[in-house]
Amino acid sequence: MASRSAPPSMGLSTLFLLILSSSFCPSRSLHYDAIFSFGDSLSDTGNVRVAGLPYGMTFFRRPTGRCSNGRLVIDFIAEAVGLPLLPPSAAKGKNFRRGANFAYTAATALDFGFFNRRGLGSKLWVNSSLSSQVRSFEKMMPSLCSSTQACKAHLSRSLFIVGEFGGNDYNTAIFAGRSMAEVNSYVPKVMRAIKLGVERLIGHGAVDIVVPGMLPIGCFPLYLTLYGSSNKNDYTDIGCLRKYNDFAEHHNSFLQRVIYGLQRKYSWTRIRYADYYSPTLRFASNPTKYGFTGGALKACCGAGGSSKYNVNLDKVCAKPGSSVCKDPSTYVSWDGSHLTETAYSLIADGWLRGPYAKPSIMQWS
Ligand SMILES: *[C@@H]1O[C@H](CO)[C@@H](O)[C@H](O)[C@H]1NC(C)=O
Repeated sequence: MASRSAPPSMGLSTLFLLILSSSFCPSRSLHYDAIFSFGDSLSDTGNVRVAGLPYGMTFFRRPTGRCSNGRLVIDFIAEAVGLPLLPPSAAKGKNFRRGANFAYTAATALDFGFFNRRGLGSKLWVNSSLSSQVRSFEKMMPSLCSSTQACKAHLSRSLFIVGEFGGNDYNTAIFAGRSMAEVNSYVPKVMRAIKLGVERLIGHGAVDIVVPGMLPIGCFPLYLTLYGSSNKNDYTDIGCLRKYNDFAEHHNSFLQRVIYGLQRKYSWTRIRYADYYSPTLRFASNPTKYGFTGGALKACCGAGGSSKYNVNLDKVCAKPGSSVCKDPSTYVSWDGSHLTETAYSLIADGWLRGPYAKPSIMQWS
């Protein structure tokens, strides 16, 4: 009754409360103890160090093992939640209490045996599958927490990012000239591997989990160079290879069903899909809107600048004969198969604040 007689002050105090609650009760995601990341070259922060400068030229000013000119999505997430950039899990003498990155460039969801049985064993660059990354995490656990209870508590306050996985499983077969029918048959197996990996982490106490999907590989300058076609119908309206984008969409919608199933099964967790695909496709549809004046389908670093895509397999980025564009921030693609720091920062923003992860990372469901 009293409040009715004083609507203006009520409005003010409500406003004041809102301000108070937003400054003093930040979303719980700001209180992550740690981040644990699993994946491939989209998130490797130094487990595999193959590429020299100009990799790393923009932010770190030295090559760090990241497959970009600067930071990756995982780096922007760590920054946003106030944690240090994740040390690679293989780094010596590091303290991993605040997180570790188990991602390996060229890693696959499936194990070596899967590829070996299909005559593709020699095509793998590294022996790092999702299950082997989870095993490394399990080996590290005793150094992170001292009892089952302590581990559950620590891990329940940590953010787990599982992926992207699948891209290398598929391109191992695609680059070896296998049919799309064969590649398609891998999808349920990749899904099962991702599901098992996530479930093992939940078993150890993971609660907050982000599972990224695939990029639109049909828009990658590398794919466009390797699989160019004289048939206009093979391309989408924005010039990407339809077949490969359709495939990535298939993987992604399957993955979203798997995640939905996991969320229902483990109701106390928060598992969400994170979308690399939609924002990257948006960059390609409307590059100038995002400042990508160099274009969306041309690599910043590579060779054959006069060609449409700036990819030459004999002169890939950082190899003799390659060169780097003047301003990487105006390109979506860094080297033909990985994105620039600018593209990653925009994607990270969509995961942190929406709409490319639901609920977004900064928002508690
Ligand atoms: C991976 O492991 C298998 C079997 O253990 C081995 O034959 C293969 O050479 C390894 N591949 C790489 C790239 O290390």
